[in-house]
Amino acid sequence: MTEKTSIHGQWSSRLIFILAATGSAVGLGNIWKFPYIAGENGGGAFVAIYLICIAAIGVPIMMAEVMLGRRGRQSPINTMRSLAKEENANAVWSLVGWSGVLAGFFILSYYSVIAGWALAYVIRSAGGVFNGIDTVGVQAVFNDLVGDPERLLAWHTLFMLMSMAVVARGVRAGLEKAVTYLMPALFVLLIVLVGYAMNTGYFAQGLEFLFQPDFNRVFYHCESVAGIAQCELSGSPVLVALGHAVFTLSLGMGAIMVYGSYMPKKTSIARSVVLIAFLDTLVALVAGMAIFPIVFANGLEPGAGPGLIFQTLPIAFGAMPAGQFFGTLFFVLLVFAAWSSAISLIEPAVAWLVENRGMSRIRAAAWIGLTTWVLGLGSIFSFNLWSGDEYKLFEMTFFDLLDYLAANIMLPAGGLLIALFAGWVMSSQSSRAEFAMGGVAYQLWRVLIRFISPLAVVLVFLNAVGII
Ligand code: TRP
Repeated sequence: MTEKTSIHGQWSSRLIFILAATGSAVGLGNIWKFPYIAGENGGGAFVAIYLICIAAIGVPIMMAEVMLGRRGRQSPINTMRSLAKEENANAVWSLVGWSGVLAGFFILSYYSVIAGWALAYVIRSAGGVFNGIDTVGVQAVFNDLVGDPERLLAWHTLFMLMSMAVVARGVRAGLEKAVTYLMPALFVLLIVLVGYAMNTGYFAQGLEFLFQPDFNRVFYHCESVAGIAQCELSGSPVLVALGHAVFTLSLGMGAIMVYGSYMPKKTSIARSVVLIAFLDTLVALVAGMAIFPIVFANGLEPGAGPGLIFQTLPIAFGAMPAGQFFGTLFFVLLVFAAWSSAISLIEPAVAWLVENRGMSRIRAAAWIGLTTWVLGLGSIFSFNLWSGDEYKLFEMTFFDLLDYLAANIMLPAGGLLIALFAGWVMSSQSSRAEFAMGGVAYQLWRVLIRFISPLAVVLVFLNAVGII
């Protein structure tokens, strides 16, 4: 039997697979989202729960996704359909692929808007806007930007065009090039920022906020009503931590599955996945270590929300030597990190259009880009025209709602189904053969994927709706 490969091509080496998957995983989720949700959810305890979710849920599910992708060698929709057939299971499993395509649309639509902020900040930084800037100034710059729908639209459009251009060029020419040098450079710059944070005098406080768990803060949500603290039990930070663990590793929607379908046969899945998860987590924690000392040193609010990094890092760049240069470089690299993630959000849909509709990659990318661009308008308006209460549902703007639905519900649900399929539907012969891994490592994965990961997702869901 000849070895099955994907019609879309194959990564040229194991290293390229790791770079591409790390490029997908490391993105706005690590540098923009992780710090602000950690800030909103009280820090340490949230971070601890997030780390547990990465190890017990994220890593096993990521292994499952890569394994399914490499065995199916097609878009997630068709991979799930053909693997279900191979295992004599029902074809409805292809719905996992469909819901993934939908989640990818949702996420990319607002992801592109935020990446647009980073693009705008490249120009501001290069123009010297941040030199010597203070807290008030930086907030004014941020509010000016997000308050102006036309500017946001221009940046969102540019970022969408950039992403479509890479996806249109295909697996080797497009996706590989973007990631090889940029990820390491971004990491070096984060370390420079940590160096700055160490000199703020608030480094210890930042570390304490991030790493000292206070579980009361997570399970009891307190508000001061007329000067008296009113506390109630709340489960949602646990759901946010789970959702983010799945989001930051790009799981639950087929992105890693489709990347797995381009993976060379001989590569070890387990070792690659552990490395990718480690790098992704490292980047998030280092970003947090750079940001929170700056937050405390400048009397800013850790729970400031989606604007957090855009209102803190410019202060650091404005104060450090050669900050104009470092700041510009940082936002350029942030754009690249977002870029290499964005392409993985639409690759499942593009691969499907090429396989089933016979479209060229260029046409497929154009259609998907256009649809996502339109949906992105809702997120743009969430920060200005539609920011009022009359436009909110459950106290959330369109942007909040889309992020909540996609990241906290659709992705964990997708991950749960992937775990159930890989652990229960697929025979152990099939999964063992694809992993080419035996002994204790395989047994450990199997226990995690059959019992621990699904159970944990279900418990977190039940907890979030208040049943337990
Ligand atoms: N993981 C990326 C980040 O942290 C975002 C991302 C890319 C993603 N592809 C994905 C999230 C697929 C969920 C599913 O920024």
